Amino acid sequence: MSTHDRLLIIDFGSQVTQLIARRLRELNVYCEIHPYQNVTDAFLADFAPKAVIFSGGPASVLDEGSPRPPEGVFALGVPILGICYGQQVMMQMLGGRVERGHGTAEFGRAYVTPSAERIDLLKGWFAQDREQVWMSHGDHVAEIAPGFTVYGTSPNAPFAITADLSRNFFAVQFHPEVHHTPNGKTLYENFVRLAGFTGDWTMGAYREEAIRKIREQVGDAKVICGLSGGVDSSVAAVLIHEAIGDQLTCVFVDHGLLRLNEAEEVVAMFRDNYNIPLIHADESDLFLGALEGVSDPEVKRKTIGKLFIDVFQKHAAEVGGAEFLAQGTLYPDVIESVSFSGGPSVTIKSHHNVGGLPEKMGLKLVEPLRELFKDEVRALGHELGLPASFIGRHPFPGPGLAIRCPGEISREKLEILRKADAVYIDQIRKHGLYDEIWQAFVAILPVRTVGVMGDGRTYDYACALRAVTSVDGMTADYYPFTHDFLGETATRIINEVKGINRVTYDITSKPPGTIEWE
Ligand code: XMP
Repeated sequence: MSTHDRLLIIDFGSQVTQLIARRLRELNVYCEIHPYQNVTDAFLADFAPKAVIFSGGPASVLDEGSPRPPEGVFALGVPILGICYGQQVMMQMLGGRVERGHGTAEFGRAYVTPSAERIDLLKGWFAQDREQVWMSHGDHVAEIAPGFTVYGTSPNAPFAITADLSRNFFAVQFHPEVHHTPNGKTLYENFVRLAGFTGDWTMGAYREEAIRKIREQVGDAKVICGLSGGVDSSVAAVLIHEAIGDQLTCVFVDHGLLRLNEAEEVVAMFRDNYNIPLIHADESDLFLGALEGVSDPEVKRKTIGKLFIDVFQKHAAEVGGAEFLAQGTLYPDVIESVSFSGGPSVTIKSHHNVGGLPEKMGLKLVEPLRELFKDEVRALGHELGLPASFIGRHPFPGPGLAIRCPGEISREKLEILRKADAVYIDQIRKHGLYDEIWQAFVAILPVRTVGVMGDGRTYDYACALRAVTSVDGMTADYYPFTHDFLGETATRIINEVKGINRVTYDITSKPPGTIEWE
């Protein structure tokens, strides 16, 4: 059990519930999101929250069987903040009344003005006469529950901000967690302060606690960890090594589809800087052999995925008697999302970097990053002393360069691709753009084109540059490089990389495209 003050977010299915957690984590408050179906009185007793937040959600409290928290939550004696649907459910359960839309629906930007004396929740609010907030509601509160007072109104939400100060219950109709409520973070800050949180959720504290938990879980058993060279598995490995030392062995599978010098860099970092036992499995012949003649993207992915498991399993057997498999699973991968269509069941998105292995090998999982968001993993990486250049690396897909080489893969094409990619990334770094971009890479196209260099004709490959901005990889925009940058980069690639005589820039966003080409 965590020793931190804990805040419970009860999820009613809002698209932005995760943002509530983000805002709170930024305030050094430890919180967890749990779907309302799982929150029973017994759960509450066990979790012992210091405060509770009800998220928004797509349902109507007026519908039969719509989501509710357990009655017991109101008897915990801790502060509660209800947001949007969370406000409506609170009002309905505590004796107020909610009505259907009928012209009072509000979607988008709205302005709230104060309607009573300032309360602690609103410290720092209304420096101007009004605050911009983000609304997204059909139903509205028609009558507030006994004991509540209105502290802010908007044209279509007469009860935009309400509170029962005697019980520290607060309820707002808008979403303070989204960017379009610019002063929203202050509201969360006020809420956690009045709830008595001390802001004890720091990476230093997390590191200590995670190490203690890993030792407790693993005892003196052996652990194996599949290293991909990405940030998540690297941070997990370094953390676990700090906890259990040589009981950990890492396996780095080189499938021959890595970027220029990538294998050497990863292996050197782990062997030289951390002295972590590492099996460097150079299996490029095996992978590239199996991929010969394969051009279908799904067949490529499946071939690589299956071989990866075989190879990992073979090398893990060398460790002998490992009981645990370590993975860099993150919090967004494990949050249980509320499913309204399928009744009370929940959908759990689980993420297995080495899919299927735990079951196949009878291994238990160690996942020390399960509570963290990506930027927190990066902060933990800094805390553990991983080089900044490594922590900030762009994501790299498991199937590697195979999916950046549309059509058939050959060693020749991979060599060309590696060189072009290195020049492109070098350009991006030189221009100081690397950290602004979510991911950038070159794809080598399965087409050769005619060119002229010096006095000679060339007949070489064309390539496409890709660069996108994104928050989570789910959606993405292409990066708006200047023409100067693109021109200079194309010239460098064509001059420095033998085998490419034409450079294009991919200006497709996601959707409709995907980030990778396959
Ligand atoms: P797409 O191409 O689907 O990619 O828009 C979204 C993000 O996921 C990465 N990606 C993968 N990562 N294994 C991974 O570990 C994969 O099979 C895989 N496919 C895509 C991609 O690089 C981007 O960051």
